[in-house]
Amino acid sequence: MCRDCCCGSARKVPHLNHDEQIRRLREVAEVRVTECLDVCDQANVIVVQPTPEGRAAGGRPVWLAFVNDENATADVAE
Ligand code: FES
Repeated sequence: MCRDCCCGSARKVPHLNHDEQIRRLREVAEVRVTECLDVCDQANVIVVQPTPEGRAAGGRPVWLAFVNDENATADVAE
């Protein structure tokens, strides 16, 4: 999960509880927080990476943009 100048910022995305978003996703996955991924106009940005088994099966990282409400967070968790 990107958390830097824009992603995770109440100034940029004021209607979302950013700490709760991280907490929710940590219930279902290992979550690492990164510095700015250079796509600030699409905050909040999350990159979902496959497990080693998933990668071996052809899975690749997927970048998700505008993950800015509880429903989007729930979709990512699911
Ligand atoms: S702070 Fe997330 S892309 Fe810049």
